[in-house]
Formats: sequence, structure tokens, C-alpha cells
Amino acid sequence: MEKKNFITPDHLKNAVKAVRGEGIYIYDEEGKAYIDGSSGPMTANLGHGNKEIKESIKEQMDKISFTYRSQFVTEPLLALCEGIAKAAGGDLNKVSLCNSGSEATELALKMVRSYFKAMGKPEKGKIISRWASYHGATIETLSLSGHSERRRDYSPYLTGTPQLEIPHCFRCSYEKKYPECGIFCARYFEKLVKREGPENIGAIIIEPVSGAAAASVVPPFEYFKIIREICDKYNILLISDEVITGFGRTGECFAFQSFSFPPDIVTFGKGISSGFGPLAGIIVKEKLYEEMTEKGVEFGTGHTYGGNPLVAEAGVSVLQYLEKHDTVKQVKEKGEKLFSMVKALEKSLEVICEVRGKGLLLGVEFAEPGPLSEPFSKEINFTKRVVDKCMENGLIVYPSRGFIDGVLGDSVIISPPFIISDEEMEKLVLIFEKSVREAYKDILKLG
Ligand SMILES: Cc1ncc(COP(=O)(O)O)c(C=O)c1O
Repeated sequence: MEKKNFITPDHLKNAVKAVRGEGIYIYDEEGKAYIDGSSGPMTANLGHGNKEIKESIKEQMDKISFTYRSQFVTEPLLALCEGIAKAAGGDLNKVSLCNSGSEATELALKMVRSYFKAMGKPEKGKIISRWASYHGATIETLSLSGHSERRRDYSPYLTGTPQLEIPHCFRCSYEKKYPECGIFCARYFEKLVKREGPENIGAIIIEPVSGAAAASVVPPFEYFKIIREICDKYNILLISDEVITGFGRTGECFAFQSFSFPPDIVTFGKGISSGFGPLAGIIVKEKLYEEMTEKGVEFGTGHTYGGNPLVAEAGVSVLQYLEKHDTVKQVKEKGEKLFSMVKALEKSLEVICEVRGKGLLLGVEFAEPGPLSEPFSKEINFTKRVVDKCMENGLIVYPSRGFIDGVLGDSVIISPPFIISDEEMEKLVLIFEKSVREAYKDILKLG
């Protein structure tokens, strides 16, 4: 089979054909094995070909594969919503399902709109977001996303722009130093609210640990307490985008739990089905939802396949797997091990300027060797060089570039499946070290 009928973006021109997946490995048609060191885009969290999930989907297929959301509910759908609410804890009890993280962001925006409309404050329509960030590929979610490369081609359509900076202490946009800064980047949110007028702002959307746009930047612990206080002071809803971080990735079921801040709305996707099908959604505080419905406003929006029985069953099965194998606790432990193994590379690979992250969501940033950690030029594209070398050597890592100013900033995300063993982690780190070394040697040759 050729690629001639497939719209092939540039980066896929030389793509290998995947034919099989097992555990942390993906195999191509020549039998070459690749360690899936990023779980795809932080999605195949339980690895490839997980037997327990496969069997449960097969069983569901024998019962019924599809029902329409406005006509039926099903056992997997209800069990999934119950399981998700239990995992989120507190008052986060109401769940609405869709197919992708982008749709989940859209659902969250619609929920904010419906809520403030019900509360008699329809003018609270603005949403604040941050550079660098990523909340989805649809026009509205891209408008919220602080990701220059992904925005560029669509800028005439985009309706908004992010306004806050992320808390990346290593390269603080405000050129301040933690902790003397007093978490200025969080406090700045209040200034912004006052300038825009709190009566116009409905919500702020935040990835608790950065994903594709800034490779696992972790905020200082106090960050979310400040953001939450400002939200409460000005009646602004807090949306935690947990499309990547949800369901164990950072060593807690949701990342907001490790920062002890209760969001009003949580978005999720990716890992909830561990790659077995398109499944995503939002979790909403019950109190907020009830206040809205008491005013007679329903939230009936949805998508044809949202929460269909097959993917809902996959989601139930993922939640059962996580509980049965105490996987989230293991992510924390494995994450700490992997972090110290990657961090140790800094000594021999001067080109690594920062290793960051939480749980099994690690970011490795690269810069010119030296005390100033000057970023590589755009033309060098060190990120691509590392990703390509890793691929050549049998390891998949996820690229993240342009987080400093939209152009500069090179990094990759290492986020293997939760089932990775100690030996497999050692192998991953060895291949990564070799690949970074080779990528750097190549640019030295350029002179
Ligand atoms: C934090 C975050 N939110 C939303 C999305 C959009 O999800 P999807 O690609 O499933 O539409 C992504 C995708 O990478 C993401 O990382």
C-alpha cells in the first residue's frame, strides 16, 4: 500500500508503517522495535495491546456497539461517569462525554457560557489562557492556545490570544527569581482581570503541568492557591485542562490533586481510553451544575459518538486497571526513578539545560552549552534532530519547541507507558543519551 491517498504532512513524508504494538513497543513492517517513550502523544498510558482492555471491548461489542446519546444510556456510560467522578473526588461529580481533547475544551467553554447565562451574567464571556499552552486544534481552542507554530497558519480565524505567562522559573518571562518573585506570574492574573473588567471574564484555563507547548513545566506549589483566590474574588471559573495529566500521568489521578487546588471544571481525554478509542469529556462541580439547572438552563450539547458503549467500556476498563494494579502510585515511584536517571545525563551532556516534570511526564530542554543556556537558533532545529535520532535508534520521544518566544526553545517530552519496567527505563535512557550525543555531534560538524 502506498501513501498517495493519505494527506501526508511534511513530518510524515518518511514515516515508517506501524504494524503491531505490544507493551511499551511498536513494531514496523520490517520488524524493527521502537520504545514508545511518549505513549504516542501521552495517550497509550497502559501500553499497547493491553489484554484486559481488549477483552472487555470485545465483550461489549458482542452486546451492543452503538447507541445514540439522545435516545439511550448504557451500563458502560454510567459506570464510566461514576468512576470518573470517584477519581476526581470532592464535589467534581457531573460528567459530560465527547471524543477528543479539543471537543472537551469546547464543552468546558460552553459550560462556562451556560452557567453565567443562567446566573444572569451573560457578559462574562472572556476566557483567559496562557503562553505557552495547548488546548486543542479547533478554531476556538486554538485561539486559547499559546502555541505560535500551530496558530500561525490560522491566525485570521483566531478569536483570541493568551494573556498570561506560564510559571517557567528556569526562563521566567518576567525575568524574576523564585521565591523572591512572590509568584508574580500568578499575581499578574489579578492585574489582567482588573484591566479587562472582572464583569467580562468567565474563566481561566490552565494546564496544571504543561504539555505539548512547553514540555512539562511544573509550577511552584503556591501558584494555584493564588490563582484560585483571584478566581474566587472575582467570580471567575477555573478550568484545569487535564487532557494529558488526567488519570495518573503525573503520579496523582489528576494533577490538580497534587497542588491541592479545586478547579470548577476539569477537561480530560487521551489516557482515559489509553489509546483504545476516541474518548474525552469534562467534569463539573455538582454545586455549579445544580445552580445552573435550578435556573432552568440545561446542558444538552454533545457529539454523535460521545460516550458510545465501546469506548465507554474501554474507559471503565482503564479505570479498573488503574485501581486493581495500584498503577497511579507506581507512576509516582517510576517517575522519580526515571527523573533521576535522565537528570544524571546533565553531567555528561552539557547540551541538556533543564530536566523537569512530574510523575511520568518529563521534559528535557536543550540549549547551547555554557552558563547562559542560550537557546539554539531556529535553523538548527535541535528538537527535530533529537527526535529523528531517537527514532533511528528505536525510541519515540515527543517534540516541544518555541516555548520561549514562539520561535526559540528546544525540548522533548519523555512520557512512557505506566507499565514500563526498570530494565526498560534503563534501555530508554541509554538510547536517549546516545541519540542526544549524536544529534549534538552533527551540529558541531556544521561548524
Ligand atoms: C492539554 C491538551 N488539551 C487539549 C488537547 C486537544 O486534544 P485532542 O488532540 O484530543 O483534540 C491536547 C492535545 O494534545 C492537549 O495536550
